[in-house]
Amino acid sequence: MRDVAVIGVGCTKFGEKWDTSFRNLFVEAGGLALEDGNLSGDQIEEIFVGNMSAGRFVEQEHVGALIADYAGLATDNIPSTRVEAACASGGLAFRQAYTTVASGMADVVVAAGVEKMTDVGTEMTTDVLAAAADREWEGIAGATFPGLYAMIATLYMDRYGLTREQLAQVAVKNHANGEKNPNAQFRKAITLDTVLQSTLVADPLRLFDCSPVTDGAAAVILAPLERAREFTDTPVRVLGSSQASSTIALHDRRDICTLDATVAAGNRVFEMAKVERKDIGFIEVHDCFTIAELCAIEDLGFCKKGEAGKLTEEGVTALNGSLPVNPSGGLKACGHPVGATGIKQVYEVVRQLRGEAEGRQIDADIGMTHNVGGTGATVVCSILGRV
Ligand code: COA
Repeated sequence: MRDVAVIGVGCTKFGEKWDTSFRNLFVEAGGLALEDGNLSGDQIEEIFVGNMSAGRFVEQEHVGALIADYAGLATDNIPSTRVEAACASGGLAFRQAYTTVASGMADVVVAAGVEKMTDVGTEMTTDVLAAAADREWEGIAGATFPGLYAMIATLYMDRYGLTREQLAQVAVKNHANGEKNPNAQFRKAITLDTVLQSTLVADPLRLFDCSPVTDGAAAVILAPLERAREFTDTPVRVLGSSQASSTIALHDRRDICTLDATVAAGNRVFEMAKVERKDIGFIEVHDCFTIAELCAIEDLGFCKKGEAGKLTEEGVTALNGSLPVNPSGGLKACGHPVGATGIKQVYEVVRQLRGEAEGRQIDADIGMTHNVGGTGATVVCSILGRV
């Protein structure tokens, strides 16, 4: 296995983007990444693109080929592959690109993610997202994603005594971070009351406990570490990237408050990267709902089960805390274009490690990503560090 570095990154603004198309979102993010890595398109050897459901959101399949074509690379006949693992599609595209470069199969490889979700209505979006759960046992019984995570939140609150205010503080903290991120969908600080007074979506989760529906794309370019300085003065090393799976249906889990795939992917990536929890300067975790952020912090081993709410309330996970979580604003405030989220997490970690995160800069040498598909049937974790 060769050492691998990220040599270029790009990300569109996230939000409701009615003025652009699915393919143009990718082209914009890819162009920014090429520019950032001082590359031209003809240097790209392979593309992996994370996308959950273009077929239903914009009625477009065969996304790998489409993306290569509209990136102007179809005539170069490079391999271009769509990667799908629901909301972990982006993280998985990154891992595929990483293993491709690490194995020596190719040198300069793009990992991208794109999703255009707002061209259909809320009812359709909810149904498309529900396909990331078990359709026969969950979706068909009416279980939506807010509904499934509400079940986790209900049991968690009962078992660990998490207060409604502690849960809401996750959203308050992520909106405060999102306000400082020029790419974020919601650049608006909120208070506990904003969350507590917002519309009930699936008890106990309210509107501000949920990530929004988002259009957006992100792209990063990987190369062998030994060649990285040919392209950039600020390569960021990939220390490890892991993947784990678990049961697709929530009711088949040993314990619905613990995402076993997060535990497994976390343990694997720490072993691979040869770093410890205390070495991690900040994490971008999959806060599709506020409760998910708390589970992630615990399941990755940063604190004991049941303690993450208190840590959040005490400011430990805030930008100026000892373990900043979701400096980008997370899925909650930055937005969640499902197939692109895992790549946006890597984008944020790279920008932070290069000292380019403007008003939300953290002083850290190592950062981590955690990207979840469904309610935890797929989890991808990556650890990146300054060279
Ligand atoms: N947080 C905060 N504000 C939100 C929001 C969110 N998650 N979603 C929408 N809004 C705001 C909109 O900006 C809009 O504000 P405005 O009136 O000031 O412009 C208002 O709420 C209504 O927006 P709308 O798009 O009509 O909301 P909606 O009812 O269609 O959607 C949800 C709300 C909660 C159903 C939707 O955001 C959702 O499904 N979220 C979960 C997505 C999901 O499950 N992702 C996968 C996770 S694994």
